[in-house]
Amino acid sequence: MITEQLQTIAEEKGLFYPVDFGSSGSSQIGGNIATNAGGIKVIRYGMTRNWVLGLTVVTGSGEVLHINNGMMKNATGYALQHLFIGSEGTLGVITEAHMKLERQPQNLQVLVLGVPDFDTVMPVMREFRAQIDLTAFEFFDANAMQKVVDCGHVSAPFVTKAPFYVLLEFESPHEETLNQAMQVFEVCMEKGWVVDGVLSQSLEQLKNLWRLREDITESLSDYTTNKNDISVLISHVPAFINDIEQFFAQHYASFETCWFGHIGDGNLHLNVVKPHDMPIPEFYELCQHINPKIFELVAKYGGSISAEHGVGLTKKPYLTYSRSHAEVEYMRGIKQLFDPNGIMNPGKIFDMA
Ligand code: LAC
Ligand code: ZN
Repeated sequence: MITEQLQTIAEEKGLFYPVDFGSSGSSQIGGNIATNAGGIKVIRYGMTRNWVLGLTVVTGSGEVLHINNGMMKNATGYALQHLFIGSEGTLGVITEAHMKLERQPQNLQVLVLGVPDFDTVMPVMREFRAQIDLTAFEFFDANAMQKVVDCGHVSAPFVTKAPFYVLLEFESPHEETLNQAMQVFEVCMEKGWVVDGVLSQSLEQLKNLWRLREDITESLSDYTTNKNDISVLISHVPAFINDIEQFFAQHYASFETCWFGHIGDGNLHLNVVKPHDMPIPEFYELCQHINPKIFELVAKYGGSISAEHGVGLTKKPYLTYSRSHAEVEYMRGIKQLFDPNGIMNPGKIFDMA
């Protein structure tokens, strides 16, 4: 079941499946569950984990487990479904899922704002969230947006240049909400936290504004990049970004950094773009030195080296920047229990030996 199919089926029934991301047209629900996929609406609806009410799984030892049976409440011991959610296929195969649906959002509005520096992103978010129940609060920097604009499908949201942009979405069932949002926007302008902004005036404009954010990954595929998917507590985000930017300015000034992501939940996608004249092997070699430095800073703030993309093979060597040795040992024990022969996606997340 492709994510978009579930979204469409829900819609046809007047309901809504809220986990959404750029790859909803190709990703599958089983994969979303196995990776606990997040995406662009997490601040309002949470991760895939929140939407799974039951699972049928085949464990590595060949046993079929019917877990939780679609119930909202079930306090009969360990919630085994949550071990399979985010397990990256290392415990067993998910064969059926019982998903929860939500009511449809009403009259969504999108606002894209230009902000003068990163330190003002958080005050803008606080100001809006204090008044309005947002369904998304995303951000991207000018480098990331330029990559999308260069593809030629959508244009910049307004002529005023800004180093950072935020995209926020909210339901506006009554005019009052819209007026409230406009008032907050004005307050942000007066305080100098926002340099310009645009509110979607039609469904088409809403979609095009979203493309500025959602097309970033695809537009970066024309370049050689080093991708990171990291998170820290939102209160640490400004200091964390500052540390990373300082690190690049000091040691890799010729590297372009593209920042974007789900800033409302502390999840940042940092893409480092290969300088034009650098051979690809040299770039990847340097990234082998850069990544541990990034993860040291992630660890300094008690963050995660993989907020939503998982560990797999590429992040495996760095797992202990985010998880203690004791935790990894418990994870090994859990894998041993469900997959005694080590046949389920072997070698991913951690090694057994
Ligand atoms: C996104 C993917 C990269 O947020 O997670 O666009
Ligand atoms: Zn993402």
